[in-house]
Amino acid sequence: MRLTIQYLAILSVAFMAATWATLGQSDDALFADGVVSDGGDIRVPDNFRTDYAMLGAWSVAGDVDTGSETGLHVVYSQRSTIDAYRQSGQFPDGAVIVKELFNGKTESLTTGEATSAASTAGYFVMVKDAEGRFPDNPLWGDGWGWSFFAADDTQNTTSTDYAADCLSCHEPVRSSDLVYSYAYPVLAE
Ligand code: HEC
Repeated sequence: MRLTIQYLAILSVAFMAATWATLGQSDDALFADGVVSDGGDIRVPDNFRTDYAMLGAWSVAGDVDTGSETGLHVVYSQRSTIDAYRQSGQFPDGAVIVKELFNGKTESLTTGEATSAASTAGYFVMVKDAEGRFPDNPLWGDGWGWSFFAADDTQNTTSTDYAADCLSCHEPVRSSDLVYSYAYPVLAE
C-alpha cells in the first residue's frame, strides 16, 4: 500500500513535470535565444551574423535610414526558419528576421562604383507570432513583433508602436505576410 502511494506520488510529479515541459515548449520557439522577454520586449539576437543565415541584401541609394549616402541593408534569419519556409511557404511561429543597416562606403574599384558595408547604423527586427501572444503590447500585431534598435543599443528598442512606426511601409507586401520576401532567393522553392 505504501509503495503504491509512493508510486502514485512519483507518477503525479512526473506528470506535472511533463505538463510543465509541454507548456514551456509552446513558447520555446518564440523565446529562443532570449530574443523575446516574457512581457514581449524584443532585442537583437546575439551573434546573428554568424548563427543566422543571410536571406538577402539591398543596396539603397539615397537611404532614408543611413542619411542620403548609398546604404546597405543585410537581412538574416534562422536556418530553421529558412527550412520551414522552403517547405510550407510560410514564416513559422518564432521566425526572427533581422535587417542590419550599414552606412555604405562608396568608391571606384576595378569593378566599377562599389559600395561596401562600413559602420552599422541600426537594426530592424521582426518576430513571427502566430498566436497573438501580446494583444496589449503595441509593438505586436498583424502576426509579428516589430522593433528598431539604434546601433549602440541592441537590447532596448526605440520603437513604441508598430502601427505608427512600421506598418504603412510594409503594407505593399501584405500578401507575403508583410515581408519583402520576393527579394530573398533562399526562400524560393
Ligand atoms: C520608410 C518605410 C519603412 C519603415 C518605416 C519600416 N520599414 Fe521595414 N522595410 C521597408 C522596406 C522597403 C524593406 C525592404 C527593402 C529595404 O530594406 O530597403 C523593409 C524590410 C524590413 C525587414 C526585412 C524583412 C522584409 O520585410 O523584407 C525587416 C525585419 C523590417 N523591415 C522591419 C521593420 C520594422 C520592425 C519597422 C518598424 C520599427 C520597419 N521595418 C519600418 C520599409 C520600411
